[in-house]
Amino acid sequence: MKNIIVLVSGGGTNLQALLDAQDRGEIKNGKITCVISSNPNAYALTRAANHGVETEVIRRRDFAAFDDYDAALTALLQQKNADLIVLAGFMTILGSRVIRAFENRIINIHPALIPSFCGEGYYGLRVHEEALKKGVKVTGATAHFVNEICDGGPIIIQKAVEVRSGDTPAILQKRVMEQAEWQILPKAVALFCEDKIKVTDGITEILD
Ligand code: GAR
Repeated sequence: MKNIIVLVSGGGTNLQALLDAQDRGEIKNGKITCVISSNPNAYALTRAANHGVETEVIRRRDFAAFDDYDAALTALLQQKNADLIVLAGFMTILGSRVIRAFENRIINIHPALIPSFCGEGYYGLRVHEEALKKGVKVTGATAHFVNEICDGGPIIIQKAVEVRSGDTPAILQKRVMEQAEWQILPKAVALFCEDKIKVTDGITEILD
């Protein structure tokens, strides 16, 4: 059974999708054992507590140097025996220490079809604002492994979502969450826990 640690910062709807998938028995060889938030007021912490999942808070601003924050987060994840780390709306950039310690064991959900609308500065509603500004007719979400390039790690699953005329960033965000993120993130986690994701030279292959 793989130990899954979920990192959050906000509302936690992707965390909820993971907890619901776990309750439905869809994450066969894994269990969410801890939720770590970068924000003590995140509603995601309430969702975790309601589910009886242990919570921790670690804030970037409590460390003078970024390297100390990176070391503390790495140590916390090691102490919790993380097999898989899921970034579910985690808004603090990870350092190279934690990324190297958990190579191809950190999954992020990004609310666009990478390589569009991604990289530094593209998070949350901003992503949808930029998609609407560009006038794309299709957007979506991507579940991917995390490497040292922001939003640049191996892609696991993508799902497209249509953009409709009259969309606002908030309306589009909601559609992308409902039709893509909440489906593909639990699916990617389930595949990982069943050892069904093979990574070769930065490209993933889903094994049957
Ligand atoms: C989600 O849309 C997630 O894809 C996005 O933040 C939102 C968090 O919502 N993540 C990023 O933009 C990361 N670059 P949630 O807290 O309700 O899951």
